[in-house]
Amino acid sequence: MLAGPSLGQGREETRSKPGTLLSAAAEQTTRYEGSGGPLLQLIDVSKYFGKTPALSDVNLTVNRGETVAIVGPSGSGKTTLLRCINFLVPYDSGRILVNGRLVGYREQQGNTVRDTGHNVNEIRKRIGMVFQQFNLFPHRTVLGNLIEGPLYVLRITRSEAVTRAQAALELIGLMDKVEAYPDQLSGGQQQRVAIARALCMEPELMLFDEVTSALDPELVGEVLSVMRQLARKGMTMVVVTHEMEFARDVADRVVFMEASKIVTDQPASDFFERPSTPRIGAFLSRLSLPRNSD
Ligand SMILES: Nc1ncnc2c1ncn2[C@@H]1O[C@H](COP(=O)(O)OP(=O)(O)OP(=O)(O)O)[C@@H](O)[C@H]1O
Ligand SMILES: [Mg+2]
Repeated sequence: MLAGPSLGQGREETRSKPGTLLSAAAEQTTRYEGSGGPLLQLIDVSKYFGKTPALSDVNLTVNRGETVAIVGPSGSGKTTLLRCINFLVPYDSGRILVNGRLVGYREQQGNTVRDTGHNVNEIRKRIGMVFQQFNLFPHRTVLGNLIEGPLYVLRITRSEAVTRAQAALELIGLMDKVEAYPDQLSGGQQQRVAIARALCMEPELMLFDEVTSALDPELVGEVLSVMRQLARKGMTMVVVTHEMEFARDVADRVVFMEASKIVTDQPASDFFERPSTPRIGAFLSRLSLPRNSD
């Protein structure tokens, strides 16, 4: 059963214009135009795996243009939170709204029922997700990987898809790798291509799940730098990360999860400078974080 307040739907008019972000890649001065206000809302969301709670009454709002870092110990529910947002995992109760549209469920004759696959896919098209494993198609070139979704999911023309791909490659700094195959790229380059692939779908919201944790340390920086650029351009991002320096410097807010719950949701500077519980202080002290010189 879903519970929770009824929220407005169909805020199509507030969607960002297609093409804006990637055009911005070529034209560095242009920002991704969000219109402010919540893009993502989780209201009392709970999810169990059998008897194990993965999310317990989670409430979270992410406004357009915000970068929110999700941190916390292993098993606290961070991945489940991201997977529920695009309904890769169905949540048990509460509501998730993207752009005011309920994700995964709909009202039917007074009841809340599972939404159609078509409607779920429509919402998913607007959400880019990047995982720890890049999952590029090994038998396709970088260009082939980048145009696949736009051609077959969005059904745009090949020349439009190629234009998008070129802009995305410019953004991630890999224009010279357009004809390369994934196994000819470093892990960091492959992960940047995975980010570019998500961007080619022109998402409104990007979800990142530990995207640097499988990389050799010397390759982490180049991936974080692409994410930094995206944040600067105003992309709305939810970033699960153990990279505390990145969270401190790039995120607007830091959400700390523990045992399936959000324990704190604070501006990044407060989270690091004034940990609100001894548990968070202990969590941070285990991670090496250069002192902020500001
Ligand atoms: N598919 C699944 N089946 C059963 N239990 C699951 C499944 N996915 C997650 N869980 C459980 O849900 C809880 C939250 O897991 P989740 O993967 O969201 O944690 P996490 O914070 O992402 O951890 P990590 O930092 O290790 O990636 C854990 O207790 C986990 O064992
Ligand atoms: Mg995880």
